[in-house]
Amino acid sequence: MILVIDNTKDLRTWINFNKKKDATIGFVPTMGSLHEGHITLTQKSKKQNTFTIVSIFVNPTQFNHKQDLIKYPRTLGADLEMLKPTGVDIVFAPSVFEIYPKGNHYGADINLGGLDKYMEGAFRPGHFKGVAQVVKRLLEIVTPDRLYMGQKDFQQFTIINYMLKNLKINTKLIVCPIIRESNGLAMSSRNVRLSPETKEKASVIYKTLKAVKKYQHTKSITELCQYGIKKLSVKPFKPEYLTIVDGHTLHPITDINNSTYAVACLAVWADDVRLIDNIILKNEI
Ligand code: PAF
Repeated sequence: MILVIDNTKDLRTWINFNKKKDATIGFVPTMGSLHEGHITLTQKSKKQNTFTIVSIFVNPTQFNHKQDLIKYPRTLGADLEMLKPTGVDIVFAPSVFEIYPKGNHYGADINLGGLDKYMEGAFRPGHFKGVAQVVKRLLEIVTPDRLYMGQKDFQQFTIINYMLKNLKINTKLIVCPIIRESNGLAMSSRNVRLSPETKEKASVIYKTLKAVKKYQHTKSITELCQYGIKKLSVKPFKPEYLTIVDGHTLHPITDINNSTYAVACLAVWADDVRLIDNIILKNEI
């Protein structure tokens, strides 16, 4: 049986009682509607820590559109069933008031070093302020040794890593590889909103990223991006951006040869659903 806790006081009591010397806590923040990607993060945390806590909280401050927040699937029962075999110790499923007792705006002003201005940030203003706000709040409550996030949200984990360092938060970020469907589509809670045909056709996204990686030494960055956008422009897909950035600064780069960490990132619309994905082209760190 998974212990589900919905308030900070009980969670802190549990942690203070159980966290003896040398015990570690691994933390997987989620908004629920779990898939294999979340399960992989939880399994990794279980392997590396004494205790694992998964949070399920649909954070209102990171949604740009009210309708998206309203439509976001809330599937606590199914999520708990999925988590059962992982042996997770606690699921923390708080209310909005529990997370923001002083109001939604309190604690939103976090320095993100300008990393929130590119890619997703350009199309979803305020989104990463909300993500950083909730992750900081959750870290204050859970005080984990390790935090687990997926590579799919490349900009998200880069921003959180910046925040951890900048605020000197004593939690190590562990980034886990993207988990994909058999056709290459990156797993996401949004995929349930795709029609079966679109889901099948969505193999074009990962195929495009792999092709960009393949041609990185023979095409210029401009050519690679144009090529990728063209490849993605097949019905019902509408690419929003495909860009090649430095993995640390998230600045678009002009020459892969001069970069030590190059990542191709994209966002594409299909069936009114916005999908993101990325591929690391080069990482010499
Ligand atoms: O990636 C997500 O699911 C969310 O952005 C996160 C990190 C749980 C914050 O609400």
